[in-house]
Amino acid sequence: MIKAIRGMRDILPPDTARWQWVESVAREVFDLYGYREIRLPLLERTELFARSIGTETDIVAKEMYTFPDRKGDSLTLRPEATASVLRAVLENRLDKGAGIKKLYTLGPMFRYERPQKGRFRQFYQINCEAYGGEAPELDVEVILLLLTILKRLLVGEMRLLINSLGCPDCQKKFKAALGLFLINREGLCEDCLRRRTTNPLRVLDCKSANCQSILQGAPVMRDYLCNDCAAHFARVQELLDRFNVTYEMQPKLVRGLDYYTRTAFEVVAVGLGAQDAVAGGGRYNGLSQELGGPELPAIGFAIGEDRLLEVLPQDLGQDHQPRVFVAALGEAARERAFVLVQDLRWKNLPAEMDFEGRSLKAQMTLADRLGATYAVILGDKELAAGVAQVRPMRNVARQPDGSAQGLEVEGGRLQIEQEQVPLEGLPDYLLQKFRV
Ligand code: HAM
Repeated sequence: MIKAIRGMRDILPPDTARWQWVESVAREVFDLYGYREIRLPLLERTELFARSIGTETDIVAKEMYTFPDRKGDSLTLRPEATASVLRAVLENRLDKGAGIKKLYTLGPMFRYERPQKGRFRQFYQINCEAYGGEAPELDVEVILLLLTILKRLLVGEMRLLINSLGCPDCQKKFKAALGLFLINREGLCEDCLRRRTTNPLRVLDCKSANCQSILQGAPVMRDYLCNDCAAHFARVQELLDRFNVTYEMQPKLVRGLDYYTRTAFEVVAVGLGAQDAVAGGGRYNGLSQELGGPELPAIGFAIGEDRLLEVLPQDLGQDHQPRVFVAALGEAARERAFVLVQDLRWKNLPAEMDFEGRSLKAQMTLADRLGATYAVILGDKELAAGVAQVRPMRNVARQPDGSAQGLEVEGGRLQIEQEQVPLEGLPDYLLQKFRV
């Protein structure tokens, strides 16, 4: 048997209903904030990611799915969406004209990481990017948008972590100070021994506990912000306070990608374990120019959908659609049932039937397994009389409003009411039943 690739998984029904629900809530909120969808290729030139994310990052150095195509060009399966969104914006001149350009995209990303709980090699992101605005109001609006999505999804306890990474000038001074601090430290991992000279900021993001302990007492970015960057960050905090957003200053937060400038943030979910970052983002004002484009301030975030789904209650977003199962006995009844099922669907009522000529008992079992709310029973006798029996199924109790229409408990026993309904008016009768 051929199995799926390690770290890549199938997302199966009924779980897919939860994914669809998450995505529909995200789309609704994006719409509210004026974002429009962009759909992008999964493959890009390797150079795009190397230049954007940075060659010293774990993502580029160790985690990309990179391969030559048949012509020998180096291609990479996207490890994130930001670089691709910006590439598309520049290529299609979407940055032209006044106002903030707001884009979102959903889809799979690929990173060759060690798979574990909450970490996959193919994972899904809900990605948001805004171009053309430098104001701290935009930073706060983007954070509020992220928190609105998470709140609407009823994500439980979360923590918002923020930092400022300053502009290239601040970063230059800070990197020099950090490099000096690290120069004679012993016990750094092999990567950090190299990074302390090539890009000391990356040492702050190292996952090794040893390297983290060496960083105790290291200089912090906050002390190296220029006046403009400090004022920008102060205003972001002031506005977050105005909206009563609780946040934690995280002076060592540098994120795993090199393109960030000024505001950077992460949302971690309480109780997720080691891989607890549900979303991350920040400003990347210099990336457009890095990619050969014009000056184009930018900010965005990505939600990790796989992790997000782990913190959502299991029953949220599940398929609660009312369903009808038409159980038919005999050829003529089956023929009529087939027409009835299509008719119900055209009237927007999900309906199913059996084509294999199963017994009534087997059909009722199937109806139960499909989660039908009502079974319509149609035999030759009913057909001759122009009626059908409508039987509420036990799982009527699973209706979203909690009502157990049609189920009555008499003397402790479940009594199922069955009704005889004229075939003619059956679709309307069922629609009426489902009207809340
Ligand atoms: P990131 O922090 O690398 O940022 O990824 C964002 C989120 O994707 C993480 O917080 C996590 O929830 C999820 N994620 C990352 N790797 C994995 C994995 N292997 N398995 C499961 N989930 C994962 C970015 O990708 C930036 N492009 C975000 C951004 C957008 N910044 C500005 N605009």
